[in-house]
Order: sequence, then C-alpha cells, then structure tokens
Amino acid sequence: MTRAKTLKVLSVASEMVPLVKTGGLADVVGALPAALAGQGVEMTTLLPGYPAVMAAIGKAKKVPGIDQVLGEPVRVLSAKWADGRKLLVLDAPGLFTREGGPYGDPNGADWHDNWRRFAVLGKAAEMLAGKFDLVHTHDWQAAMACVYLRYAGGQVPSVLTIHNMAFQGFFGGEIFGRLGLPDSAWSLDGVEFHGGVGMLKGGMACADAITTVSPTYAREIHTAKFGMGLDGVVRARSNVVHGVLNGIDRAEWNPATDRHLPATYDTKSLAKRKANKRAVEQAFELDRGDGPLFVMVSRLTWQKGVDVLLEVIDHLVGLGGRLALLGAGDVALEQELVLAAQRHPGRVGLNFGYSEPLSHLMQGGGDAILIPSRFEPCGLTQLYGLAYGCVPIVTRTGGLADTVIDANPAAMASGTATGIVLGEATYDDLSLAITRAIRLFEDRPAWSKVQRTGMRADFGWEASAAEYAALYRRLVAA
Ligand code: ADP
Ligand code: GLC
Repeated sequence: MTRAKTLKVLSVASEMVPLVKTGGLADVVGALPAALAGQGVEMTTLLPGYPAVMAAIGKAKKVPGIDQVLGEPVRVLSAKWADGRKLLVLDAPGLFTREGGPYGDPNGADWHDNWRRFAVLGKAAEMLAGKFDLVHTHDWQAAMACVYLRYAGGQVPSVLTIHNMAFQGFFGGEIFGRLGLPDSAWSLDGVEFHGGVGMLKGGMACADAITTVSPTYAREIHTAKFGMGLDGVVRARSNVVHGVLNGIDRAEWNPATDRHLPATYDTKSLAKRKANKRAVEQAFELDRGDGPLFVMVSRLTWQKGVDVLLEVIDHLVGLGGRLALLGAGDVALEQELVLAAQRHPGRVGLNFGYSEPLSHLMQGGGDAILIPSRFEPCGLTQLYGLAYGCVPIVTRTGGLADTVIDANPAAMASGTATGIVLGEATYDDLSLAITRAIRLFEDRPAWSKVQRTGMRADFGWEASAAEYAALYRRLVAA
C-alpha cells in the first residue's frame, strides 16, 4: 500500500482550548489537530490575537509579507503550542487587543465592529491559504474565509463547519462596500441575505463542503424549525452537507486520570465516585447525602432549556433530588435560579461563572447530568457525562439523539441503555424524565449497569477524524 500524501490544512476559528473558550467550539477546534494527525493531516490553526492568545504564545516568528488586511495594520505570527499544535495568530491590536470576551465587552454587549474583526480574520486566512491544501473554517466568525477564497478564484478548497446555526453573523448591507469583495458577491451565491450581509450564509454559499457536528442536526437544519432562516440555503446545498459527530479529547476527559478529581476511577471502581460527590456537595453548599445528585454545566440560554429546568426544580427536590448548577449567561435566568435556590437551601446549589475544574468535578461526582436543550448541534457535556458515569438526561434532538440510548425496557433488557431521553424540552417531558431517573437510581444494579455501558461507549475522535480526512482528500482531488 502506498502512503497517502500528508495534507496541509489551515483550520480557522475564533476559539481554541485552552487559550480561549466560550463553549464546545473551543474543545473541538483544540482536539482536531491531534485527531487528524493520525490521518495524515497536518493541521495549523489560525486564531485572532486576543490578549490571552498573545500572552500564551511567547516566542513567535513573524510571517513575512502580510502587514495589512482590508486596510487594518496586522502581523501574522507563527508559533507552536506546548503540545506541538501549530498556530498562526492574527495580531491586529486595533481589533483584538481589548478587555472583555472574544465577541463582546465586559458587560456582554457585542463589539460594534465584530463584522470587521471577523472579515479581517477571513481575509487573512485567504491570504495565507496558498501554503495549504485546504482551509477548514468554523462558524460565522471564520466563514468569510470561504467567501474570500471563492472570489479569489477558488484554487484552495474550503470546508465550513457549522457548530451552531443560531449564530449567523448578520450585519447591515452598508458594510458590504468595506469587505473588499467584488460586486458579484452581493448576490444569492455570495454574502447577500435579506438585504444585509450574512457571514454564515456567505460561507455556506461559497464553501466546497458544509459539515455540521452530528448526523441528526445535519438533517434538522434542512427544516424551518431548526434552520433559523437558513434552511433554504441548506436545502439548496444539500448535496454537500455532511454530519460528522464530534468526539471527545480523552487526554483531557478521562475519569481514570483526571487531575481535577479528588478520586479517579474506572468502570471497576465506581464506588470511588463517592469522594467526588462529597466534593461537589461542599463546593455547592449542598446537604450531604447518598440520594440522587443532578448536575448541569451549561451556558444559561434558551437553547439549553434552562427556563424549563426552572419549572421542574420543585419537582426534582420534591422527589428527594439535589441539584448543582454551574453556568454563565442570561442574567434574568440567573436571577430566577437564585430564587429557586433560596426556596431549597441545601438542595439546590449554584455557581455562576466559568470554571473548568468544577466542570470536571461535577461530571466525576454527579449522578446524572441534565441537558434539556431545545436544539443541540452536537453537545459535549453528555459525552463527558457518558465517559464519567454521570448519566445524561437529554432531549431527543441533534447530537444528543445520536449519542444517548434511552433506558427503556428493551434497551435495559439488551444492556445497551446509557441515559434517559426526553421528547421535548417541556415541563411534562423533563419532569417525567427526572422521575424515571430517580426510580432507576433506586435500582442500584440497574443504575450502575447504565453508568458502565456509557463509560464503555467509544466517543473518541478516531471515526470522525477519518471522516474529515476522507472529505478533505475528496475535495483536494476534485
Ligand atoms: P455549547 O458549545 O453549545 O455551549 P457543548 O456541550 O458543546 O455546548 O460544550 C460546552 C462546553 O463548555 C463543555 O466543554 C462544557 O463543559 C463547557 N462549559 C459550559 N459552561 C461552563 C461553565 N460555566 N464552566 C465551565 N465549563 C463550562
Ligand atoms: C456549539 C453547539 C454544541 C456543539 C459545539 C461544538 O456550540 O451548541 O452543540 O457541541 O458547538 O461543536
């Protein structure tokens, strides 16, 4: 057998663990290079030069020849992250050297010039693309790279991965003239969308292939319910839309080696989880006890069904459950959660903010993780839950539907059940799911069987990395 030629791929994204993260996008972008290395793909990741990124890269070489992009003074720096990941960093102080988050100011308001910040990122990717066989972009913040590549002649193929259709990068039509694109890009085949500029839409129109992060979500976005206004574009490009399930990074998420757990364990030593449960109780000021401990680790948004969770908290506590919630996001939801916790001292504990260590501890010590999302392109927390024996309770949608097997009588009998699946994010369905979980929990042998089955399921990157590599090779050969 002859070895296939190494493919050089430029991955373009606005987040990557451990440098900058607001959600699962960062985990996936961070895991892809190592996952694809095993497939003969050498991946370099282009990131914006946010302060955290600039501080982390240390010694970096300037890439010659790129001093400005769309009129913005920039430097492109080439660096290697400690574990060998190759990075290109777009140092554009006028755009990225700011206090606040990657997309907004410290008060949570979007940066007024987000269109320019990410158009410049996309254009820089196109200017760098000549050194690569293919460009792989993630979400609207990177999608403009596909547009610039197409209007530059399309020699280097591009893939756009949609991690979440709810974020589209839609801006007023007045910015079009400042994007440095030909007039022909103001069209159905380009960035124009309902009289404005749609960056995700433009990427979808121009990419050679579109992927999303689970097979079910790939089907769902063809419909008005999940397409968020872009389902027509999805249908028009249906022949290049693929669902490739995310994996998890076993180096980071493994209960047998996790440095954030007071007690590490595996399928043969589930009893050790008890020490972690005690630590969760302490961290969330919950009563000590062996009854069911539900956890939730989530952005606090409508997508994640946090409002539905609020409705069922009394039910959950009424049945003897406790809840530990770690989350950040919508302030109104936070306030309502505080009221619920005040109603149930010792039974409901909250932590607002972002904590990687706590998120690991909760998977290692919680009995079940609640993910009542209204839609979920893939979802990673249920995969972490499976790996850690923290039984996922999920809505039957997107990647949740693709990864969790409901503990119905047939699945219990055949030993394939890994969690509890509810129909829709509604009070009725979620409260029933919680009742079912508590009953199952009381049948200890059945519960530990479900935990172990989930822990043995393989959600590593192997299979999906092979799918990405095969897709890249088809496009490069075309
Ligand atoms: P999404 O990307 O839509 O937020 P995912 O389930 O794909 O959903 O990924 C969420 C990621 O962010 C997971 O790694 C999860 O552990 C992490 N996460 C979410 N909220 C928090 C938080 N408040 N603190 C720490 N980690 C969090
Ligand atoms: C998005 C989605 C989530 C997915 C993640 C990584 O943030 O909301 O479902 O797991 O991207 O692909």
